[in-house]
Amino acid sequence: MINPHGSEELQPLYVYDDATRMALAEEAEGLPSLLLNSAAAANAVMLGAGYFNPLQGYMDLADARSVARSLHTSDGLFWPVPIVNLTKDENVAAGNRIALRDPNVEGNPVLAVMDVTAVEEVSDGELREMAEKIFRTLDENHPGVATFLSLGNRMVSGSIQVLNFSYFADEFPETFRTAVDIRAEIAERGWNKVVAFQTRNPMHRAHEELCRMAMEDLGADGILIHMLLGKLKPGDIPADVRDASIRKMVEVYFPPNTVMITGYGFDMLYAGPREAVLHAVFRQNCGCSHLIVGRDHAGVGDYYGGFDAQTIFDEEVPEGALGIDIYRADHTAYSRKLDRVVMMRDAPDHDKEDFVLLSGTAVREMLGKGIAPPPEFSRPEVAQILMDYYRSQS
Ligand code: ADX
Repeated sequence: MINPHGSEELQPLYVYDDATRMALAEEAEGLPSLLLNSAAAANAVMLGAGYFNPLQGYMDLADARSVARSLHTSDGLFWPVPIVNLTKDENVAAGNRIALRDPNVEGNPVLAVMDVTAVEEVSDGELREMAEKIFRTLDENHPGVATFLSLGNRMVSGSIQVLNFSYFADEFPETFRTAVDIRAEIAERGWNKVVAFQTRNPMHRAHEELCRMAMEDLGADGILIHMLLGKLKPGDIPADVRDASIRKMVEVYFPPNTVMITGYGFDMLYAGPREAVLHAVFRQNCGCSHLIVGRDHAGVGDYYGGFDAQTIFDEEVPEGALGIDIYRADHTAYSRKLDRVVMMRDAPDHDKEDFVLLSGTAVREMLGKGIAPPPEFSRPEVAQILMDYYRSQS
């Protein structure tokens, strides 16, 4: 299996030894607390689960700025997005051991214990410089920019030990998996070539066919459907509904033992190209040899060109920086001529009118009006689950 990013062995920051973890939890009750924001909590979950290997905790300002500017930490580790703990809390001090509390779980239980090495004041100018590099815009209507600029001006850095996986393990017991779990399952299945599919949508026909095409083109042993379980922007479809749709689609339309349905606990950044590279890093950490990157991967609105999330791998990822390869998908569309979903580059004889363009946004709009998406868009079983959800909302 492919090595993790930056180390031979995966080094998850979750404390797997029960006795040590219980002792830490007890110690944490006597430590000063920092209530995390959701972004920092999601980082802790990803660090705990081994997805952010080989990072040992939250970055300091020098690393964060260096990563934003040049996709490398000060020590030269390739890394695409700053992994930071920004706060407005003024009570945290360097040298302290503190308890990081979870904002997303009732009662704010301790999520992790942190040894604070530095607390640095970040100017608005520095925050904006980082945001501009990460998101390629400073428009505050961009949900990722708005979140990043609202987190606070104090950067708390240092190593962490993670005590649990927040609400993800309890709310999605069938689906939430750590990178450690996924590596173990890939090994158990004896898969070698594994294609990861990132998604934050219920899977429509375009998504389904992309997985099938990638599997076939690459001669892969299996596909890892890896869905985002954390926070999205308003209007996006909640994780439990997406999970149910995906499970149904796989059950009916994929051969047995070719798909692993899994999810990870992270909030969507909407950072387009940079997020695609982060996606590649953490799919390598869970043992995948390939990641599908299609049109407007991890994008939002019109902030990114349709294939910027592919070209960044040519333009900003140095040769050899990653072990995982990208499967570049062209825009997929339903062909009226062929009566199936195709990649547009594979149908050069088609005119514009021969295609029905498929988009998650269009499907959401239809559902909002109580209209079932047609079979060119969604499998009927998936459409039914989505219709039930939208009806329950109105
Ligand atoms: S994402 O934010 O997680 O990227 P989504 O779940 O819609 O959003 O997409 C998952 C993957 O499918 C991404 O790699 C995306 O580029 C790709 N994709 C979705 N729709 C299409 C399409 N119509 N044509 C090509 N690729 C697509």
